[in-house]
Formats: sequence, structure tokens, C-alpha cells
Amino acid sequence: MYEFIQKFHSGWAYLALLLLVIAVASSFIGMTSKKDFTSKDRKIALFALIGTHTQLLIGFVLYFISPLGLASLGQMKDAALRLTSLEHPLLNVIAIVLITIGWSKHKKAVSNESKFKSIAVFYGLGLVFILSRIPWNLWF
Ligand code: HEM
Repeated sequence: MYEFIQKFHSGWAYLALLLLVIAVASSFIGMTSKKDFTSKDRKIALFALIGTHTQLLIGFVLYFISPLGLASLGQMKDAALRLTSLEHPLLNVIAIVLITIGWSKHKKAVSNESKFKSIAVFYGLGLVFILSRIPWNLWF
């Protein structure tokens, strides 16, 4: 069970990050080139939202069954364990809250530019947060 969830979380991360990078890049392009916000742009942002939320759910399950998750929360002096048991989960939850705020702000926005801007800024910040706390040595 642990191995399956761990591999799922590891593999889904590629998809979630790819979708997020595409959403951020295309919203920046849309914002700067003053394009119309089309249903294609909405779908890109929606897929990135779903991809990251799915990763969050898998992450929560993993957190309770992995020896590097909740079980290691007390060991703050070990940087690798602090990363997987505290920093990575915390920063990723914040990142996904930001992405969700970006999604709901884009829905309320009226102009094309402000729709692109909500996605570019909030999804972009979320991406930076996520990338700042990936356990790279475990992943590669
Ligand atoms: C978009 C959000 C997230 C991304 C992109 C992400 C990505 C990753 C990656 C690439 C790894 C290394 C996987 C490997 O061992 O090959 C990892 C490990 C881990 N993640 Fe996440 N993660 C996310 C969210 C979360 C959340 C929200 C939690 C907990 C609530 C979490 C808990 C963990 C734990 C405990 C590990 C260590 C697992 C182990 O090797 O036993 N992750 N994550």
C-alpha cells in the first residue's frame, strides 16, 4: 500500500507540475499579448487546478503512511526529514490554497486581462512555493 501510494505521488507530480507550468506560461502570454480569455484558457487552468488538488489528496494519504511523513515530524534537526514531514507538506498546502484563490478570482474577474492576471499571479506563486520544497533527492 505504502509503495503504491508513494509511486503514485511521485509519478503524478510530473503531470501536476507540467499542467501547472503550462497554465502559468499561457496565462502570462495571454496577459502580455492582450488576448481574449477563451474556453481553452479556462480548461488549461481547470486541468492544472484538478491536477494539483489530486496531488494534494495523494500527499495527505502518503503523509500518514510514509515513514518520512507524520512519523518523522519530531525530528527537526534532520534537514531531510524536516523537509518531508513539515516543509514540503506545509508549503504545498499553502501553494494549493493560492492556486484555488487564483481560480476563484479568475471566475469573478470581468476583463480578459484580469482573468489572465489572476491565474498568472496566483498559480505562478503556487508553482514557486511547490518547486522550493520538492524533495529532489528522493525524486531523481
Ligand atoms: C502539488 C503538490 C505536491 C507535489 C508536486 C509533490 C511532489 C512530491 C515529490 C516529487 C516527492 C518525492 C517522491 C519520491 O519519493 O519519488 C514527494 C514526496 C513526499 N510528499 Fe509530496 N508533493 C505535493 C504535495 C504533498 C502534500 C500536500 C503532502 C502531505 C500533506 C505531501 C507529502 C509527501 C511526503 C510525506 C513525501 C515523502 C514520501 C516518501 O518517500 O515516503 N506532498 N512529493
